[in-house]
Amino acid sequence: MTANTHITVLLEEATKALLVKKDHWYIDATFGKGGHTQKILNAGGKVIAFDIDKAAISSGKEIFASSIVPGNLILIRENFAQIFPVIQSLKEDRQINEIDGVLFDFGTSTEQLKSEDRGFSFDGDSPLDMRMDDRLGVQAKDLLALIPADQLEELFRDLGGETDARKIARAIKSSPVPITTTKQLSNLILKISGKQKGKLHPATKVFQALRIAVNTELENIMMGLPQALEILAQKGRIVTIAFHEGEDREVKTTFKLWEAENKGENLTKKPVVPTAEEIKNNPRSRSAKMRIFEKNTSDQQKNEIE
Ligand SMILES: C[S@@+](CC[C@H](N)C(=O)[O-])C[C@H]1O[C@@H](n2cnc3c(N)ncnc32)[C@H](O)[C@@H]1O
Repeated sequence: MTANTHITVLLEEATKALLVKKDHWYIDATFGKGGHTQKILNAGGKVIAFDIDKAAISSGKEIFASSIVPGNLILIRENFAQIFPVIQSLKEDRQINEIDGVLFDFGTSTEQLKSEDRGFSFDGDSPLDMRMDDRLGVQAKDLLALIPADQLEELFRDLGGETDARKIARAIKSSPVPITTTKQLSNLILKISGKQKGKLHPATKVFQALRIAVNTELENIMMGLPQALEILAQKGRIVTIAFHEGEDREVKTTFKLWEAENKGENLTKKPVVPTAEEIKNNPRSRSAKMRIFEKNTSDQQKNEIE
């Protein structure tokens, strides 16, 4: 395994939280390299896996052929913001029945971050693209060109926590040449923020903020979570793994609200985090927070739905 290969985070913890039962259906909303999917299959479950990334789906189709052919895995190139219609149509086609769990492992895979030509990384020099789904119309370089300085500043601060947000936004907008490559952007940031002092490269936060904005990651979570709850069977569970404060806040607020509305139980008042050993073996896991919600619609709500 190399530093450019995705290592699945909270693998044991997430699979255990799903309470996988033999021949029951589970959704892996963020397939990636299929680490969680494989574990659910090993535990006897069946999986419908979503990913918006063409490369993740095509390599998954090859690697997982032995699960796809007998019908234990359905692999779909689709946004998890579309879970409800996709699952409805699979149910209408009688390909699946009840769904007992949905897993979200938000963000990007190591393959995406380390790819040399997709613009996620400040290490190399490639066009500032950053789309996980290449069917999207707007790339990171377009955001830099189209968004006014004050909104860019807000974006860098809110989605990246960047303290030099104003200076960086202004420098981008007053640059004599458009900023269209990863190298141009990381050099511009290095000029403003100075050389790397701590563990984080000075461009980390701006790159993260742009990636979240290009892929409308928070909006997708806001759309995907309620649809996941809707398609779950009674006692089914939603398990989320978030790496970014904004993502985790969205999950936490949603679970709290659902509990107040008697839609089920928030099983993690405090998030589950990786062990010291996991962090040592995979430093990328250090910011992961896992939360679990169990659906339990009250009798009164069932009557209202029916
Ligand atoms: C952190 S990786 C998942 C890794 C996976 N759990 C594993 O063990 O290999 C996140 C994956 O989710 C995908 N993704 C991100 N947002 C998505 C969305 N809205 N809908 C579907 N897939 C998404 C990305 O393309 C990426 O492959």
